[in-house]
Amino acid sequence: MKVFPQSFLFGGATSAGQFEGAYDQDGKGLTIMDVMTSGDKDRPRQISWQLPTGERGLSGTGIESPLSIPAKAQLRPFEDYYYPSHAASDFYHHWQKDLNLMADMGFQVYRMSIAWARLFPNGDDPVPNEKGLAFYQKIFEACKERGIEPMVTLSHYDMPLALVNKYGGWKNRKLVAFFENYARTVIRRYQGLVNYYMTFNEINVLENVPYITAGLLEDNLQAKAQAAHHQFLASALTVKLAHELDPSIQVGQMFTYQPTYPLTSDPKDILKIMDWEQKLFFYSDVQVGGAYPSYRWKYYERQGVSLQLEEGDLALLAEYSADFIGFSCYGSNVMTVHEELGQDAGGNMSTSLVNPYLPTNDWGWIMDPYALRIALNTLYHRYHKPLWIVENGLGYLEDLGPDKSLDDAYRIAFLKDQLAAVHDALTLDGVDVRGYTMWGCIDLVSMGTGEMKKRYGFVFVDVDDDGKGTYARYPKASFYWYKDLISKRILQ
Ligand code: BG6
Repeated sequence: MKVFPQSFLFGGATSAGQFEGAYDQDGKGLTIMDVMTSGDKDRPRQISWQLPTGERGLSGTGIESPLSIPAKAQLRPFEDYYYPSHAASDFYHHWQKDLNLMADMGFQVYRMSIAWARLFPNGDDPVPNEKGLAFYQKIFEACKERGIEPMVTLSHYDMPLALVNKYGGWKNRKLVAFFENYARTVIRRYQGLVNYYMTFNEINVLENVPYITAGLLEDNLQAKAQAAHHQFLASALTVKLAHELDPSIQVGQMFTYQPTYPLTSDPKDILKIMDWEQKLFFYSDVQVGGAYPSYRWKYYERQGVSLQLEEGDLALLAEYSADFIGFSCYGSNVMTVHEELGQDAGGNMSTSLVNPYLPTNDWGWIMDPYALRIALNTLYHRYHKPLWIVENGLGYLEDLGPDKSLDDAYRIAFLKDQLAAVHDALTLDGVDVRGYTMWGCIDLVSMGTGEMKKRYGFVFVDVDDDGKGTYARYPKASFYWYKDLISKRILQ
């Protein structure tokens, strides 16, 4: 029997672009997600664009297919394609019901994101859209009434599209000031309602999927290095302005970290993993550690990258590091230099080899009952900062029964394993882990594939991959299991 302390907060997580819908209502501008078509496990999502000549087309997003957008293309949606973010789970019109469901489960924390383009439709607008501000105000007030602490991501894979079409995304330093203005507007407006922020979702995925993280239309290291630097500056400025306004507001770094295991004992496998992990940790080493690590400067030198720095940049990063780390972890990965020995599996924004000791879900993601304990230990002993597991969960193909019930016993079993690992890290290893927000607590659109049928939730949303359905909400068996866990705080 594992008992969680009262101080450990349980809840769930969503993101605006995957959950909110109402993509063009009440003054919201388009986002980079609003031009991504739907796909599935075998059919990658695509981005739609138009050239000045009028020619239009679809290109890879960089997630499951290479990023390939012609120079001079402007990204835009077209009537004849289906874009799942446009309606998503329609939280915009179901928020009361959804927050009631979360409160019913006993959520203590709700991780959600603000759509930057709902407040600043073009990203660079001098004045915010009051209707957008009012929408989130309602949400945060409703959270407060229900005793739920909101944890807000400022940019979760859905930056304003105009910042890509007009400025070329985060490689342009102008975005730092636009983001600072956005962050200041949000933090001031919701002072007293929101105490936890995270700046960029899974910032370290910039390394392999530069479009969704940084609005880059090219996959070259020089642009990615510059974009990362600008996001670091924007994050540090957010920490600065939040602390100046109210020192009790905490601003976290958010990245993805799942442990990677070697397939063989060949030391070359360990070196390969060391190299991979340096690419992952670079982001948190800067944002949490406050300085560019030596291995990154050397890497840039080898690759001929010349980073454009301005006076005061490095001092800013050193002075305003993140208060906590929020991370996503769905399982683990396997790597080897001996590719011929392994078999490809899927993975979250990465690819792995099959682990012969562990099962996978329908998308090939490895389900690992030990990953969270290992990840929590690695991160805590590297950074000594409070940790939050802000994404973890199980995507599954499932449907309602004739009586509208759904017995997701597999999800309950998965979550029991995951939370047992968290409890071990907390009690056996003394890791300072503050809370757990299960990803996609109410069904939402998959980021990787754009599917609705890849379901994560405690609550089923009646809509299919083509946006057809009633959007009604139905609690699954895991809803009642999680409610019981939160009220008793006992994992058995
Ligand atoms: C994380 C993202 O990478 O994984 C989420 O932050 C995403 O936005 C989640 O939804 C699960 O991935 P997927 O592809 O199953 O939606």
